Amino acid sequence: RGANVILERHSRLSSNEIKTRLKSIDLGDGRFPTEQIGEFIDLMQVYEGAMYEISTKLEILDDEFQVRFSHDPIHHMERRLKSVNSILGKLERKGLPLTIASIRDNLFDVAGIRVICNYRDDVYAVSNYLSAQSDIQVLRVKDYIKNPKQNGYRSLHVIYAVPVFLSSGAHHTPVEVQFRTIAMDYWASLEHALRYKTDLPDTRLAEHSQTLLDCARSLQNIEVQMQNIHRDINGAPRAEET
Ligand code: GTP
Ligand code: MG
Repeated sequence: RGANVILERHSRLSSNEIKTRLKSIDLGDGRFPTEQIGEFIDLMQVYEGAMYEISTKLEILDDEFQVRFSHDPIHHMERRLKSVNSILGKLERKGLPLTIASIRDNLFDVAGIRVICNYRDDVYAVSNYLSAQSDIQVLRVKDYIKNPKQNGYRSLHVIYAVPVFLSSGAHHTPVEVQFRTIAMDYWASLEHALRYKTDLPDTRLAEHSQTLLDCARSLQNIEVQMQNIHRDINGAPRAEET
């Protein structure tokens, strides 16, 4: 196998930790229903399986590119299951019921994978090949690379549904995959850090946001130039300049 790096952004699923957390959570009108704790753990295990299914598919594609073109499209991957606290917090923020059915029906990012690619061409190659696989479905696509957000954020977000086979049969489970380049990831990390810096004065926050927007544009130009060098030495047509 190729030397793929997958960073686990949280440790593996621990039923004991989930139990302890859920038992200690006060929903305002009472504790999280004890009879649903087992079901919650079962559900998280399915999400974890879905996350592994998709990351394995991505590793296999990366290996194939390495064998066929001597090029690794994927620089590295990060994957995580949303924590109990974030799951309940998100349902609460959206005014949704805190139940197993509500998680299943409303949250599509319980299982999340970030695929950090070397070049923009790799982002589209890998995501297109994954999306074309006949055993998974594309539930939603948000292309913030073609249409960057106002703040300069760029990434391609795809929500897939993948079957996870348990003793009870196939469970079609959503996984949110964020495809981005190293430059996009570099930018998003700093922007994310700034977002949580609420103790800075508004004027400095505004100034940093403006600078970040300029950085996003500069990074985009650098990416196109480097992509073109990469295409040229690999005999592919040039990308249009921005
Ligand atoms: P929520 O999950 O409720 O936020 O809505 P959504 O699923 O419609 O959101 P979207 O697909 O736009 O974004 C989902 C994820 O992308 C977020 O949880 C972040 O990880 C990432 N993301 C989106 N926008 C930004 C941004 O402006 N900056 C950074 N750093 N990350 C972002
Ligand atoms: Mg989301």
